[in-house]
Amino acid sequence: MTPEVNGHARTLLTDRPELYEARFPDPGRLAGRWAEDCLRRHGAGPRVLDMGCGTGRDAAHLHGAGRRVTAADLSEPMLAYARIHRPGPDYVRADLHGFDFGPAVFDAVVCLDSALLYCHTNEQLDHFLSSCRRALGPGGLLVAEMRNGAYFLGRTDLLDSPTDAAFAWRGTVHRSVTTLGVDRTAQLLRRTRVWSTGDGAEPVEERSAWRLLFPQELRHFLTAHGFEVLELHDGPGPRTEPLWHEGLPPGRTADADRLHVVARAARH
Ligand SMILES: C[S@@+](CC[C@H](N)C(=O)[O-])C[C@H]1O[C@@H](n2cnc3c(N)ncnc32)[C@H](O)[C@@H]1O
Repeated sequence: MTPEVNGHARTLLTDRPELYEARFPDPGRLAGRWAEDCLRRHGAGPRVLDMGCGTGRDAAHLHGAGRRVTAADLSEPMLAYARIHRPGPDYVRADLHGFDFGPAVFDAVVCLDSALLYCHTNEQLDHFLSSCRRALGPGGLLVAEMRNGAYFLGRTDLLDSPTDAAFAWRGTVHRSVTTLGVDRTAQLLRRTRVWSTGDGAEPVEERSAWRLLFPQELRHFLTAHGFEVLELHDGPGPRTEPLWHEGLPPGRTADADRLHVVARAARH
């Protein structure tokens, strides 16, 4: 089984960033473009922190769009990969559950592809949001994109039955069998995934979990931490069907499990 380090789940894909990119390709850099569009539409300044940056794809896109980007993750393999393959941003190790880069050093924090949902408890979410408030100047933006906890209400069809997936990377087919379950007390979506490669290697079992965060709940947390919610929707985004694209009028809906949020730190 994949170990946990200091209570933080490691997975095959966070330990093997090249596999992460093969499994979740984003050749059109849609997530980075979506984040840049949010920053631009709401007039964010140039200094951006990407929390839970993974392989650095989005951080590098924002850098290419002219922003001064610091990108942070807890996974050393992710950071090492990003420094080599996605140069430009300043890559540092930091924890979503509490970080301190100094006061008002960023104009925006972005947190993409459910990285925020690694804040499993209210306390961790409070620490994340107070860290964001400290890092942001007055009027700074928080832009986040994540699974929508509300999507799973009543969706028993998604739970407790294994689903198979496979992808090829450098001639090896990686197969995974994934089972999702809801922990109703901890309010977590728990995932068990068994990886196999069919080359005689032992299958690897990993367990991870995401906070099931609901839109009203997120709005409440943001408001309690002095953010004004500018956008909170489950419409088109970088991982929805239909997909977001530049210039899309607001108010469209998407049949997807994603929640998108843009919030502004209060101007004192
Ligand atoms: C699903 S990946 C998303 C990566 C990237 N934002 C993207 O959209 O491609 C989640 C990332 O969060 C990181 N992560 C998980 N827990 C974390 C924590 N407590 N602090 C910082 N990063 C964390 C993982 O290492 C992983 O790179």
